[in-house]
Amino acid sequence: MKKITIAIDGFSSTGKSTVAKQLAKHLGYIYVDTGAMYRAVTWFAMQHGFIDAHHFEASKLVAALNTITISFKFNDIVGFAEVYLNGVKIEKEIRTLEVSRYVSQVAAVSEVRSQLVQQQQQMGKDKGVVMDGRDIGTVVFPDAELKLFMIASAEKRARRRFDELIERGDEVTYADVLKNVEDRDYIDSHREDSPLRKAEDAIELDNSNLDLITQFERVLLLVNQRFA
Ligand code: DC
Repeated sequence: MKKITIAIDGFSSTGKSTVAKQLAKHLGYIYVDTGAMYRAVTWFAMQHGFIDAHHFEASKLVAALNTITISFKFNDIVGFAEVYLNGVKIEKEIRTLEVSRYVSQVAAVSEVRSQLVQQQQQMGKDKGVVMDGRDIGTVVFPDAELKLFMIASAEKRARRRFDELIERGDEVTYADVLKNVEDRDYIDSHREDSPLRKAEDAIELDNSNLDLITQFERVLLLVNQRFA
């Protein structure tokens, strides 16, 4: 089967990365978590004091962008590629609720987006890639052969994210996680540059009530139907 590009977009915590990882493993494709790249830049901005609850010095972040190198390295033990910032693994650090609170503001900065989009296009240039995010089917790979757009109720998504954070040992409340999910939905879909929206040719998948196995079976069927 010829190699294709698979773009998976959708609101936060819709399970995009779970499907993307399953699919990449099944097809022997590269998986790129573009949200991790925006989270890495956000973590960098936090470390340098460019963003906190009271202010965001976007111009300082933009001026420092050329000092940031983001890379992924496959970890056999966890079974996916982990994210590195300037050679330091920050996979765990970027998954906190604090990073989630600021990431949508950082992701709305055009200079941040253009740098990351360029890198994402480079990573997927040979096809054989599953990439998830918010603008993959609309901006990064508008010609992707298969585009999925995942949705689920805000409550279901917040519950999933809350369970993940609790399992990691983070001290968070369900109400805070739900608020973060709703805030990010709003900012991500209302920003000026590349707002989150479903590409016209994307297939919508509502997984509010789908278990992981059924969901994967449906996605595989789509892949096979189109490209067998
Ligand atoms: O997928 P995630 O929740 O880890 O993404 C974190 C944030 O990054 C999300 O709220 C918006 C931003 N993002 C984006 O703007 N464009 C992408 N392609 C991926 C993520």
